[in-house]
Amino acid sequence: MKIKDIDKENLSFEEIQALDQEYYLNCFGTRLPAVFEYGEGSTLYDREGKAYLDFLAGIAVNILGYGHPAILNAIETQSKKLLHCSNFFYIKSQSFLAKALVENSCGDKAFFCNSGAEANEGAIKLARKYFYAKGKHKYEIITTLNSFHGRTMATLSATGQEKYQKPFEPMPTGFVHVPYNDINAIKKAINYSTCAVMVEPIQGEGGIVEANLDYMKELKELCDKKDILLIFDEVQTGIGRTGKLFGYQHYDIEPDIFTLAKGLGGGIPIGAVVAKDEIASAIEPGDHGTTFGGNPLATSVGLAVLSTIIEDEFLEKVEEKAAFFKGRLLDLKNSYSFIKDIRGKGLMLGLELNSSIEGKDVVLDMLNRGFIINCTGDNTLRFVPPLIIEKQEIERFINGLDQSFSSFGYKGKFNDLGKEK
Ligand SMILES: Cc1ncc(COP(=O)(O)O)c(C=O)c1O
Repeated sequence: MKIKDIDKENLSFEEIQALDQEYYLNCFGTRLPAVFEYGEGSTLYDREGKAYLDFLAGIAVNILGYGHPAILNAIETQSKKLLHCSNFFYIKSQSFLAKALVENSCGDKAFFCNSGAEANEGAIKLARKYFYAKGKHKYEIITTLNSFHGRTMATLSATGQEKYQKPFEPMPTGFVHVPYNDINAIKKAINYSTCAVMVEPIQGEGGIVEANLDYMKELKELCDKKDILLIFDEVQTGIGRTGKLFGYQHYDIEPDIFTLAKGLGGGIPIGAVVAKDEIASAIEPGDHGTTFGGNPLATSVGLAVLSTIIEDEFLEKVEEKAAFFKGRLLDLKNSYSFIKDIRGKGLMLGLELNSSIEGKDVVLDMLNRGFIINCTGDNTLRFVPPLIIEKQEIERFINGLDQSFSSFGYKGKFNDLGKEK
């Protein structure tokens, strides 16, 4: 088989799987059994034309779904002109995207990279440089247990999950982990070398766990009082995912630095670090940089995505649909004894199952029924559909979930099907 013939080869699913197993690094184990060909709106289609309503959206990335005209137009227009030219030159779409992010957030300066981990690396460097420039030896960053900040060495060290770190020890130093939503634990962890606290407004990979309002407010006060920077990792929560443009807006506080990725490019890789002027001004030429980050294509698409999200009523509609979705999930909770909890904000919702039912089995069953979800944390189904999802699609999804749960036929204080009598 020649590489140029790849599209012409009518490979079966099994043949593609065999290629993956033979040639691709085994990071993802046995993947879910589907190969997608194209998408439209919030639906993906496999090679046999089977439709899947997508409540995972490429892990909270495809925020405007598939084939959105704003994204297609930006890709088409920009790709015909210029994909990349290096950061040695001024880039119009980069400057405009930075302006748009700054004008719509609490930040003053933006930097673009290619992923969430890279954005967090940038935030970590910025926090350390800020104190270095002030002549203070403050470098330690407090993060939370069950957090997820990325897979590079520093962001892995920031990630409060030992299972990801163990095989790669020794970890870069300068990170301590404390329980989430525990202000006293942060107070105890602070010492003379603490430069920042980094948190997710909602822990995504940790199982859709929300930060409490009081915790966030106290955390901001504490950081200000102790001359410590507050960094919000908004890689998953940013760009409208939680119903507000940024997750921090739910808490009526302003972080000193926040990071973005996933939704910002609507499927084109891009990450961003946004910081207050005082902190950003510590960075001097040569301190940080990137070859690909902020290129004309990625920033043009980012601009198209952001413009769409901040259009009149877009986010109001997200909140409306999210309230409907959460309400219907709570209805399901009343029907099934094995649903422990419903959590989350906006279109970043989680349904925690008790140990009598395995989330991964539900994920597979839902896939067979034509719905895409995944399982995070201990045993939590995560729902992060495109923000353009429609109410009737949410209703169809709930019916699918209801049928899937019924098919497991669990007993409890409920009837044989796990449903209330
Ligand atoms: C909160 C958060 N931070 C960082 C990352 C890492 O992003 P990436 O995979 O783009 O490096 C993720 C990815 O899931 C995330 O959810």
